[in-house]
Amino acid sequence: MARVRTVPLVWILLLSSALAASADDAADARAGRTLYENHCALCHGDGGKGDGPLAGELKVPPADLTGIAQRRAGAFPEVELAEIIDGRRPVRGHGGGEMPVWGRALGWNVADPKAREAAVHDQVQKLVAYLRSIQLGPQHTVGELDAR
Ligand code: HEC
Repeated sequence: MARVRTVPLVWILLLSSALAASADDAADARAGRTLYENHCALCHGDGGKGDGPLAGELKVPPADLTGIAQRRAGAFPEVELAEIIDGRRPVRGHGGGEMPVWGRALGWNVADPKAREAAVHDQVQKLVAYLRSIQLGPQHTVGELDAR
């Protein structure tokens, strides 16, 4: 009889941790939206379509950020995106300075190097969560960013 009771309990625990994870994702995406408005919308546009007010001035048009997964056959590459955002992975068009290195910009006000790295990681993770929330079509994660 005890067994009959423990099975549903396990499911309740699994379900509540899954719900907690998706609530965290939603909170991250909301925080990421604000970061996006402050740092990215100028080029990539309010809706992420690559049509921001600066887009027409750039030699290389800003990418449509709602199609990240579509351009990669449904793959949503968290680590690759984090590297594109923090500047470790230069994107096409980066050479002309079209895409500032956000790794430096996001941590500018934190003096301690370790704390700065953590602050940048945290903000990049929120930006990636936001980008995930605006993807069109199905997607699956490849290269998962670790939460800190
Ligand atoms: C000054 C203009 C500008 C700003 C500001 C900017 N970007 Fe970009 N972004 C670009 C350009 C130009 C590209 C390159 C497009 C290409 O190679 O086709 C790009 C490419 C990207 C890509 C690659 C998309 C892909 O599918 O590979 C991502 C992701 C991205 N940007 C995210 C961001 C995020 C997040 C921010 C804010 C933190 C940001 N960008 C701010 C101009 C900008």
